[in-house]
Amino acid sequence: EKVPLKLEVNGKKYKLKVEPRTTLLDLLRENLNLNGTKKGCDYGQCGACTVHVDGQRVNSCLSFAVMHDGKKVTTIEGLADADKLHPMQAAFVKHDGFQCGYCTPGQIMSAVACVREGHADSEGEIREYMSGNICRCGAYTNIVAAIQEVKN
Ligand code: FES
Repeated sequence: EKVPLKLEVNGKKYKLKVEPRTTLLDLLRENLNLNGTKKGCDYGQCGACTVHVDGQRVNSCLSFAVMHDGKKVTTIEGLADADKLHPMQAAFVKHDGFQCGYCTPGQIMSAVACVREGHADSEGEIREYMSGNICRCGAYTNIVAAIQEVKN
């Protein structure tokens, strides 16, 4: 049986009915058509599904949507300010912080949280914080450079 769920996603308010077992990731992608958030592993190992809930980063594949009733979700689609890229998005472009791009939305959402939470003081600290976001192309050096640029 579906249950009611109120969510604010990227500044837009939604009143939804969802199956209790629907993950936040599937809700975003399938119900709201926000496909920027990616499904890599679907079990908490890759970070491709990273979003922010009330400002905290969350692996959206690991949490049920109903756990977030009344909360504010930000996805990669909500990061830019109209036509102006978020500084972290611009830094990823400048430093080639990707190759295939599949992990990039999750990388950027984690990177924004990394700086905001004060974990970007050194390369080691950045790599530690970002260790849950896997990049199979191995763009890590450039990702770190992008984060350091935003931090400084
Ligand atoms: Fe969620 Fe991989 S899809 S961590």
